[in-house]
Order: sequence, then structure tokens, then C-alpha cells
Amino acid sequence: MSTIAIVGTQWGDEGKGKIVHLLGKEADGIVRYQGGPNAGHTVVFDGKMFVLHLIPAGILIPKKICYIANGVVIDPFSLYEEVQLLQKRDITVAGRLFISELAHLIFPYHKILDVAREESTAQGSRKIGTTRKGIGPAYADKVERTGIRVIDYLEKETFEELLEQNLRLKEKFLQKFSAIEKLRKEILDQAKILRPFLKKFACDTSWMLNCAIEKNKKIIFESAQGTMLDIDFGTYPYVTSSNPIAGAVGSDCGIGPNKIDSILGIVKAYTTRVGEGPFPTELKDEVGERLRQVGKEFGATTGRPRRCGWFDALVVQRSVRINGITKLALTKLDVLAGIDALKVCVAYKHRGKTLTQFPNSRTILREAVPVYKTLPGFKEIPKDAKKWEDLPGTAQRYVQYLEKLSGAKISFVSLGRSRDETIRLDKSSLWE
Ligand code: GDP
Ligand code: IMO
Ligand code: MG
Repeated sequence: MSTIAIVGTQWGDEGKGKIVHLLGKEADGIVRYQGGPNAGHTVVFDGKMFVLHLIPAGILIPKKICYIANGVVIDPFSLYEEVQLLQKRDITVAGRLFISELAHLIFPYHKILDVAREESTAQGSRKIGTTRKGIGPAYADKVERTGIRVIDYLEKETFEELLEQNLRLKEKFLQKFSAIEKLRKEILDQAKILRPFLKKFACDTSWMLNCAIEKNKKIIFESAQGTMLDIDFGTYPYVTSSNPIAGAVGSDCGIGPNKIDSILGIVKAYTTRVGEGPFPTELKDEVGERLRQVGKEFGATTGRPRRCGWFDALVVQRSVRINGITKLALTKLDVLAGIDALKVCVAYKHRGKTLTQFPNSRTILREAVPVYKTLPGFKEIPKDAKKWEDLPGTAQRYVQYLEKLSGAKISFVSLGRSRDETIRLDKSSLWE
């Protein structure tokens, strides 16, 4: 086995960045396959903290090759800033980052449309609580077949023609927010710098990945967001505009689905969500506030406070099923230390009926009330915990209970931000 998809099982921010940084050591290449600069993947090591938005967390491991695949929507200006920031902090990017020519681009007008939609008070409009990075409008253009890909951007004449077409198409709406002339000038001026910048990285990543897999290179596919934000399987319409699930790796990277050998789900020991939308186990009390403060639950991209709540087994069971997850990495167990009683949602009650599967109906979801099982909490996790036996008995029981409910093996327990603060429970290699 040589490839692993690493996916979020909840509403994002499960700690994917940390786990990719941990497992990336063993890999040859790391690929971001969907989403865009809406993601914020935090990696902490040697007293330093990095937040990555578009570039895979693997870039922080010397010599690893990183890819941004065709399924990602790239804001070239954000990417430029991200590369500059990494280089300023002595991370070499040149020669290690490859970007798909087929990835679609985000332009300033996509961000204007995203914000306009969020702030609209028109009848029937609905606030999603997006990151306002232009993600939805850029994917909408891709599906509408008016999008501009990296390869189009690199061909000056083609790009200018497509830009005109887009500005004309969106003019009626855009001019309420910005003068079209000003917008055109901004985009064309930026392109003078961003075109030669992107050119250095652009290539056929599908071909490269297929060659690497052929040679048995170890590849990690790093998802952004989480299964409950998936455009198909998430809490629609309060979702992102791509498919973070493992099933998307094939089409988002241009490899056969039979090339994905194993799927590792990342799951927080409790639940968080940023933005609007249903969240049955949300805690609006002092326990929720405590999780937010102790877990530092503030958006890595927008700084927004994350909504916090108890572990929801229905959410994780759905994720395990939809992604085909066989192994899990449980993160942030340390954050629960000091809470006397830990609740785990094992079902929902809806109008007298017990639901044991996460419902697809928005009405049911709005009205569903969690059914909890309460487990004893643990006072603290020793700072130097390195193996299973170092965990307090009550913490072990909590982990075992989550494993039983989830239906996948918990192979890692994460107890802090750095990769050293992780217990590996499954001694067999993930690559086998
Ligand atoms: P991602 O988007 O899935 O990569 O997750 P984020 O980086 O947005 O959010 C996870 C946050 O939790 C980051 O601040 C991480 O540094 C932090 N983190 C990850 N694992 C652990 C853990 O086991 N314990 C604690 N206390 N923090 C963690
Ligand atoms: P990572 O990769 C958490 C959420 C937004 C909003 C919804 C739609 O760090 O886990 P969008 O800007 O994508 O159109 O917003 O999705 N969202 C995330 N929540 N973590 C993320 O990424 C997210 N990316 C988007 O808050 O509710
Ligand atoms: Mg995040």
C-alpha cells in the first residue's frame, strides 16, 4: 500500500494539519485535493506555529514534494502571500510545490459575490456563514463552465478574453459593489506578477501523481473541511462547495479510485463547527465556553469563535460509512481533562421516535434532540504520556467507547498540538 487519504469526519478543524505533519514524515508526497483558502490547517512544532490555507501541511517537512490538485480552487494572490510567508520563515517552496494546470482560480469578483450573498437581506436569502474567500462563486463558475483555470491564466490572450466574458456576465450584479473598470484593472495588474509566479509551479499533477504511484511512492491526500461540510453528504445548504470525502480523491486528482489504499479519518474528542447550520450537540453553556477556551477553538482562517459541543456518534458513524474509513486519529482528548462527566450522543429523539442514523431531512435535523450516554471524566492527562498505559483509566474507557461507537479502529490518540504529543495505538504500519 502506498497511498492514504486523510479526511475530516466532522465539520472541519479536526486537526488534519497536525496529523498530516505527523504522518508526512513517512511519505514522499502530500496532495491537497479540494477546497481552497477557506481551509486553515495549523501545524505546531519546535515552538513555531504555521497556518496553511492552500499548500499541504507536508511543505513543513523538509524535502517532501507537495501538490495542489485540480479539485482545489486557488486564489492566486492568497497563494502568492502564502508562499512569501513560508519563504520568509525559511521554508523552501521552489522545486517542491506542483500545481495542477486544471485547477480553477478565484478572482476578486468571486469574493465580492460571496460577501454580497452573505450580507444580502433580500427575501429568501440565507446566510451560510462562509469564510468569504469566494469559494462558492468560484466552484459555481466551474460547474457553469465559465471558470478560469490555471492553464487559461497562463495564456495571456485566452485569459483576457475569459475575464471580459466573466465581467460581462456578472456586470449587472457586480456594479452594485464595485466599478467594473476598477475591478478589471486590479485583476490585470495583479496578473502581471501572478502569471509568472504561477507559471513556475503549474504542471500536469495528474500525470505526476500517476507516475509516483506507479513507482510505489508513498502519497498522502490531505482533505480540507470535513464530511459534514460535504456538498452532497453534509448539512446542506450549510456546507462548503466541494466534496471533502475520500471518494472525491479520484476525480479531484486525476487518479483511479482503485489507487487509494487506505482512508484515515480525523476526529475530535468532542465536536466543533464554524458558521451557521444545524449542530445537534452544541453546548451554549459554560461547558461549551470551556471547550472553546481550553481547546483554543477560534477559526484558523477567519478567527471566528467555533461553536463547541459533545461528541456526536451519529455524525462520526456517517463519516466512517461514507468515506470508507478503517482507521481513526482521535484528537484533542487533552481538552476534555477536568470535566467531571463526559456526554456522548448515541441517538436523536424526534417526535417520540429514536433515530440511530444522522437524518437527511433539514426539518428533522432542526428538531432532533440528542440522546446522551454519560461517562466519567478524567482529571488530567500526564504531560509526558507516550503510551496507552499512561492514560488514566477513565480516559481509556472514553476512547474505547468512542471506538466502539464509531465502527473504526482508533489508531492514534492526540494529546497536544505538536506531533510528539501523540500516542500510536496501532503498531502495524499505516502503509501496509
Ligand atoms: P484542521 O483544519 O483540521 O487542520 O484543524 P485546525 O488547525 O483548524 O484546528 C485544530 C486546532 O487544534 C489547531 O490549533 C491545532 O494546533 C490544535 N490541535 C490539534 N491536535 C490537538 C490536540 O490533540 N490537542 C490540542 N490541545 N490541540 C490540538
Ligand atoms: P479546514 O480545512 C471549518 C465552513 C464555513 C462555512 C461553510 C461554507 O480548516 O477544516 P465556504 O467559505 O467554504 O463557502 O464556507 O464551511 N468551512 C470550514 N469550517 N474548517 C474549514 O476548513 C472550513 N472551510 C469552510 O465556516 O460554515
Ligand atoms: Mg482548520
